[in-house]
Parts: sequence; C-alpha cells; structure tokens
Amino acid sequence: MDSFKNTGDDPASIAAVFGASGTIGTAFVTALADSGAFDRVIGFSRSSTPRVDLLDEASIAGAATALAEAGTPRLIIDATGFLHGDGFMPEKSWRDLSADHMAHAFAVNAIGPALLMKHLLPLLPRQGKSAFVTLSAKVGGIADNRFGGWYSYRASKAALNQMVKTASIELARKRPEALCLALHPGTTESPLSDPFAKQGLTVRSPAEAAALMLDVIDRKTAADSGGFFDYSGAALPW
Ligand SMILES: NC(=O)c1ccc[n+]([C@@H]2O[C@H](COP(=O)([O-])OP(=O)(O)OC[C@H]3O[C@@H](n4cnc5c(N)ncnc54)[C@H](OP(=O)(O)O)[C@@H]3O)[C@@H](O)[C@H]2O)c1
Repeated sequence: MDSFKNTGDDPASIAAVFGASGTIGTAFVTALADSGAFDRVIGFSRSSTPRVDLLDEASIAGAATALAEAGTPRLIIDATGFLHGDGFMPEKSWRDLSADHMAHAFAVNAIGPALLMKHLLPLLPRQGKSAFVTLSAKVGGIADNRFGGWYSYRASKAALNQMVKTASIELARKRPEALCLALHPGTTESPLSDPFAKQGLTVRSPAEAAALMLDVIDRKTAADSGGFFDYSGAALPW
C-alpha cells in the first residue's frame, strides 16, 4: 500500500473497514494491519464498539465521529453486503419476487453504502491520495447479465454502482486526488458465496481476494475514480 504511506502530513493516518466481521472484511483488516502503511486500522461492524448497522443511520454517524477523532481516514473500505439469509434466497424467477426481500437487499447493498458515503466522504483529506472503496459484484453489471435470476442482488448492486459513480463526481470537486471505487472481489470462500460456488468456478481464499484488491486500490489513481473494477484491476461493464 505504498501509495497510501503516511508522508508525515497526517497526525495519524487511518484505514477503516466496514463489515469488519465479514469474511472478506476480516481479511482486509489483517492485510491492512500487516501492510504497515497506516498508523491505525479500525474495523467497524454490528459487533464492534461503536456498533455500525447499515439500517441505522445514527450508528453510521457515530462511526464517522469516532473516525474523525482518531485521525485522518485515507482508506475506507466497505465490505458489507447481503445475498441470502433471514429466510431469503436469491430469486430464480419473477415468481419469487418479494417486496420485503427487495427492500432488504436495497437497504443493505445500496442505501447503507450510500449513507456511508454521506458521512465518510467528507472525512477524506483534501490533499494526497485517499479512497472510499465498496464491494460490489460483477452480477450487478446490467450489460453482463446473461443468466437472469438474482433480481434483488443484481439490482441493488447496480444501484450501488450508480451511487459510486455519482458520489465520485461530487468528491472530485474538493478532493481531486481522492477515489471512490466499486470493486468485484471475484468468487471468494465465504458464507455468502457458499451455496453458489459451483464446481469449475475459481474460488479464492479471503486472504488472496483481499491482497489482490488492495493491490488494485494501490495502483488506481484519481483518473479511475467512479469506476467498477474486478480483483485484477480490469474495468467491468456497467
Ligand atoms: N464472497 C463472494 O464470492 C463475493 C462475490 C462477489 C461480491 N461479494 C461482495 O463482497 C462483500 C463481502 O462479502 P463476504 O463474502 O465477505 O460476505 P460475508 O462474510 O457474509 O460478510 C458480509 C458482511 O456484511 C455485514 N452486514 C450485513 N448486513 C449488515 C448490516 N445491516 N449492517 C452492517 N453490516 C452488515 C455482515 O455483518 P455481520 O457479521 O454483523 O452479519 C458482514 O460483516 C459483499 O458486498 C458481497 O456482495 C462477495
């Protein structure tokens, strides 16, 4: 993470991970701590103090206050997400569509990350490289939808991608060196992917996925802000 190394201007440079309790989130926290590029690495989740629940904006505001008090956040990674659970499985057909399922997917995958942007993007420094990165999914790309199904997940990640692009434009006005990115981790061993990781598909360990994505974040510059990239750094179709 050489591009984020503290140049001495920051009292304390911070990397923050939201969804730090998750499979990929945990791997990010470990890899960021091991990198030594930040003075502190702070993980937020529904089991951290302060607790952050994407369905509760006040908890997001509380995390923003805690981060601002801790130092200068240079890298913020949102590794939260919802595909299945609470009785919901990805839809195979329009017959499976449910308002509750769609509302939950949008709340966690699009509205929650947008509220993270609202409260956290203003904390990024005005000078030097900084980044807000959210984990999207390739299946959120509308142009690449060849198999159908997974309505709520696909549509909520497409909405997330639009939030990233829109916020990147506003971010660039006062923070020309900052990035706002959507990243696809690739299929990664986790409870989220477990029921769907088909044979023949490359499935990476969370540590490998996190290392690849940190390398991508390190290599990307402000010219890439607002983009949607995979774990190798390749641009994905919207
Ligand atoms: N794994 C893959 O193959 C794959 C592929 C493409 C994209 N992705 C994306 O990568 C991201 C991370 O996935 P993962 O595999 O690491 O999944 P995971 O292990 O299930 O982790 C999901 C994380 O989201 C958090 N979360 C869910 N609802 C939340 C809420 N209301 N408020 C705050 N946090 C909430 C969970 O917190 P709790 O621990 O509190 O439940 C957990 O930290 C997701 O955005 C996913 O869509 C994953």
